[in-house]
Amino acid sequence: MSVAVYPGSFDPITNGHTSILRSGLVAFEKIVVAVLHNPRKNALFTVDERIEMIRESVEEMGEDPGRVEVDTFDGLLVDYCKRKNARIILRGLRAVADFEYELQMANMNRHLNSEVETVFIMADDAYFYVSSNLIKEAATLGGDVKELVPGPVASRLLAKLGR
Ligand code: PNS
Repeated sequence: MSVAVYPGSFDPITNGHTSILRSGLVAFEKIVVAVLHNPRKNALFTVDERIEMIRESVEEMGEDPGRVEVDTFDGLLVDYCKRKNARIILRGLRAVADFEYELQMANMNRHLNSEVETVFIMADDAYFYVSSNLIKEAATLGGDVKELVPGPVASRLLAKLGR
């Protein structure tokens, strides 16, 4: 079975992420969405909240829940891939600004474990400029972002921001 790990911070998951997940499911039989557990990173949502939002978003997408596992990881991504029997790391690419960071990570991961390949999928052009950080910034300042995030995220963002 072709298993891909789709890692990230997902703070929170956006429509850009779900578009990549949807495309990834065309290419791979199973995708493990892996939320990085990084206590040092300043996150708006806890890891548990992020996992719940991803699960709810997958349900909203109508994808077969048996093909999408949602999990958390810490330590090296390539070690996690090995534990999951995954030979593929799935990453989304948006504007050119992503390219250098993604190239560095892909090369580092290949250096750490040459048996794991990074595969990139282009984000849907409607969400090319959407990022979790911009979503949080806009929402915090009162902007309406509900068309850029899955339904379950929109309501939780408002609740988190006390609105
Ligand atoms: O959504 P993000 O924050 O861009 O995701 C970054 C992520 C989680 C993919 C990256 O930080 C990561 O893989 N961290 C795990 C630590 C690791 O393996 N580092 C070495 C490879 S760069």
